[in-house]
Amino acid sequence: EKAGYEHFMLKEIHEQVSAIHNTLAGKVSELEGTIDLKELNMTDEEIRKLSRVQILACGTSWHAGLLGKYLFEQLAGIHCDIDICSEYRYRSPVISDGTLAIAITQSGETADTLAAVREIMSYNCPTLAITNVVGSTITREANSVLYTRAGPEIGVAATKTFSTQLTLLYLLAVKFALSRGKLSPNYVKGFITGLRKIPGQIQQILNQKEAVKECAENFAQAENYFFLGRNLNYPIALEGALKLKEISYLHAEGFAAGELKHGPIALLEKGTPVVTIATRGQTYDKVLSNIKEVKARDATVIAVADNKDTEIGKYADVVLTIPQSSELLSPLLSVVVLQLLAYYTALARGCSIDKPRNLAKSVTVE
Ligand code: M6R
Repeated sequence: EKAGYEHFMLKEIHEQVSAIHNTLAGKVSELEGTIDLKELNMTDEEIRKLSRVQILACGTSWHAGLLGKYLFEQLAGIHCDIDICSEYRYRSPVISDGTLAIAITQSGETADTLAAVREIMSYNCPTLAITNVVGSTITREANSVLYTRAGPEIGVAATKTFSTQLTLLYLLAVKFALSRGKLSPNYVKGFITGLRKIPGQIQQILNQKEAVKECAENFAQAENYFFLGRNLNYPIALEGALKLKEISYLHAEGFAAGELKHGPIALLEKGTPVVTIATRGQTYDKVLSNIKEVKARDATVIAVADNKDTEIGKYADVVLTIPQSSELLSPLLSVVVLQLLAYYTALARGCSIDKPRNLAKSVTVE
């Protein structure tokens, strides 16, 4: 059932190629520049009337949601809040009219997420669930459901369900932007063309996984590992750190790169690996400055960069490349590199990859 792979996690990392394809099936028209999400059960008029999106999730699904916040605000100009469900339940949130709640949960069974959804639905707030499991509890409670269609995920570490959650959030944000007149159908055509290329580009990353493996092996005995990213890559940095800690038991932390000098930089020592997502985009120069700050402390920079970037090698100690894509979509590629890094680090450390200690696939108790 592992189809020749040593672990479910590696199989599921590879399955992202087909999973994203399945998520997109029937939902996008490249020709017309339209996105069809009929499961949402919302008219353009209703989408235009929304004043706020409230995302609720835990763990990796929360990281997907955090990227979703950036997308809803940057693309659709719609205010978006995101909460960790275990906090949302107890913090007496204010829920304003015109809010759409989006609960993201792979399993559809996470106790904290279900409780947060019950809380917000008690205020009559319409709630959309993004989940992978057909017939799960969340699907019976939410008003509408979008399925990630990633197929069963056995590894405790979420991989293909994360990238497919992201895919749906991209579609939602772009759909909302279209309905609200923030993006033109022409732009959306280009976006869809780019999105359709993602599975093939993930395959290219998988074809070069030996380079990531070698890097993972070189740093498998590190004491601390840091992950930095800005803007859309900030949630990806958090996700890279979570993947590494879950399955390799290494101490790893993700930070918004700009926060480095507000404290975490004190932790850097000679040789500490600092994974920095340095793909081209509006914050590229800022990220380069962060890399220089890290180098000045003798720490080691592992950069995730575009394969056409000829400059980054001057600053980083190791460069792991991704194929060229738009700044908007590149997180879907960068995350695959970080998943592989976590996987090969855990492999080098002889860890129980599919069933890491102390963890359950879905946390059904509070
Ligand atoms: O099933 P859910 O998406 O609601 O699960 C949420 C988290 O428990 C989950 O993402 C967890 O962080 C994973 N082990 C991450 O790999």
